[in-house]
Amino acid sequence: MPPYSREPTATAIYWLGHYILELEMLSKSLEDALNTQLHLEFESSYVYLSMSAWFEWKNMLGFAKWMNIQRDEEQFHASKFYHFILDRGGQVKLQSLQQPRWEWDGPIQVFEAALEHEMLVTKSIHQLVDQAMEERDHAGFTFLQWFITEQVEEEATLTAIIDQLRMVQESQSGMFLMDKELGARAAEHPMP
Ligand SMILES: [Fe+2]
Ligand SMILES: [Fe+2]
Repeated sequence: MPPYSREPTATAIYWLGHYILELEMLSKSLEDALNTQLHLEFESSYVYLSMSAWFEWKNMLGFAKWMNIQRDEEQFHASKFYHFILDRGGQVKLQSLQQPRWEWDGPIQVFEAALEHEMLVTKSIHQLVDQAMEERDHAGFTFLQWFITEQVEEEATLTAIIDQLRMVQESQSGMFLMDKELGARAAEHPMP
């Protein structure tokens, strides 16, 4: 019989398991914050759907298609939060959507409203990252990195479109060309 055993004791295994469980547990406050973000992604989707409908109503079908793809992107973001919450053992708590705006003065105003909305989303993502960092939730922190980059892209794309719309605003042919150009956008994450 050796003086000591290299086999872990039952007590050691219990405490190791307990420690790992503690480390991996999603806190209630982070679960709530992730649910709030999930809701914001669904609201974003609804906002873009309303914008798509406005463009289609104005017969600007390229802009309408672009907004519809943007709607799908937001559904994709929502599904990422949905699965992350469940994968971490959290509970998904869906909320009702508020009625989005449905009237704008023109295409520039629509895209300005979209940018304003995305800036709000960016702020919310950054707050979520701060919370994950404070709680030392490494999985949450890593998961959220994708969204930080995504928000930079979203804001840059919308800013570029707004700049182009400002350039052509007096020109019907310019607007026609922009409608064609935006209508060429391909869906990255098409909804089934
Ligand atoms: Fe999003
Ligand atoms: Fe977005």
